[in-house]
Amino acid sequence: MSTLRHSEIAGVGHYVPSRVVTNADLTQLMETTEEWIQERTGIQERRWFEEGKDTTANMGAAASRKALEAAGLTPDDVQMIVFATLSPDYFFPGSGVLLQRELGIQAPIPAFDVRNQCSGFVYALSMADQFVRTGMYDTVLVVGSEIHSSGLDKTTRGRGVSVIFGDGAGAAVLRPSTREGHGILSTHLHAQGEFAEELIVKEPGSNREGRVDYAVANALDMYPYMNGQNVFKHAVVRFPQVIKEALDQNGYQPQDIDLLIPHQANLRITQFVQQKMGLSDDKVFSNIQRYGNTTAASVPIALSEALQEGRIQRGDLVCLAAFGSGFTWASALIKW
Ligand SMILES: CC(C)(COP(=O)(O)OP(=O)(O)OC[C@H]1O[C@@H](n2cnc3c(N)ncnc32)[C@H](O)[C@@H]1OP(=O)(O)O)[C@@H](O)C(=O)NCCC(=O)NCCS
Repeated sequence: MSTLRHSEIAGVGHYVPSRVVTNADLTQLMETTEEWIQERTGIQERRWFEEGKDTTANMGAAASRKALEAAGLTPDDVQMIVFATLSPDYFFPGSGVLLQRELGIQAPIPAFDVRNQCSGFVYALSMADQFVRTGMYDTVLVVGSEIHSSGLDKTTRGRGVSVIFGDGAGAAVLRPSTREGHGILSTHLHAQGEFAEELIVKEPGSNREGRVDYAVANALDMYPYMNGQNVFKHAVVRFPQVIKEALDQNGYQPQDIDLLIPHQANLRITQFVQQKMGLSDDKVFSNIQRYGNTTAASVPIALSEALQEGRIQRGDLVCLAAFGSGFTWASALIKW
């Protein structure tokens, strides 16, 4: 492992739709209150896409252009695309190839999708990292982009789920690190499929005969289902575990972390993790208040905003961590 080169994040960018939906707006659609949403999740507002303007692929492209610009690169420099989303533009093909087209990349570079929901970006980052480490590619674009709002049950029936999720996109460019001991130090990926149905969009599943007709007849199963309490219970255990795993592998302690960027699942989960790891407020990044949970887009949006706000300096130890549907969970430790 040590003989392989490291990759580093050379540029990050994000894009969110311009339409802001506040908790007060949601009270017009369903029986809920601003207080309930704020107290249970920390969320104050989220973004919802604009039909005809925003797509999963073009939001990813907007974020990618910013990430490439920050890295001093152009789309033609990209050698591979890894696209994380649970809300692809089409059932198939994946949004990775659409992103290639959106960016006007003519070269037949590889592009693929990662379907790991809230852990999608960290999984995608890990995959990209492997390709850079082995020397197969020098410039890999990693994208997380989601449109949840078109698929949520915005009635009282769906309120336990639909108040949480929002739309947006983030992207990062990986390049080989030129600085010894810097870059992505390690990544850690996990899954536990026995909980697959605890956070799920079931239809249109392929294992029903005549699946299109079946899905239409069972349309309610096209909305996300979440066993919120069980997700919470597992999240507060897995986040600290996978962060600790990354620290242990690299000989660090929790207090060595300069900034923890957790997947923005729920502010209460983040606060729980912060407390369990013994981290002060300035060492944990949260922007769920403004965007809700954007699943695969949440970590790169947060990373992009943290950089914009000057929360990350050269040499800082940055930890990314995620947990979500699958269940899946993951972390990445980065010496910036
Ligand atoms: C979703 C979550 C906020 C719900 O909080 P909770 O305390 O578990 O609430 P429950 O689901 O037990 O519901 C409690 C009550 O609130 C009601 N409720 C649910 N959503 C509501 C809403 N948006 N507004 C008002 N009331 C709501 C429920 O109907 C229930 O009412 P009842 O007691 O009359 O049956 C919480 O479980 C959670 O944060 N889970 C983790 C979710 C998460 O992070 N998901 C992303 C994973 S990556």
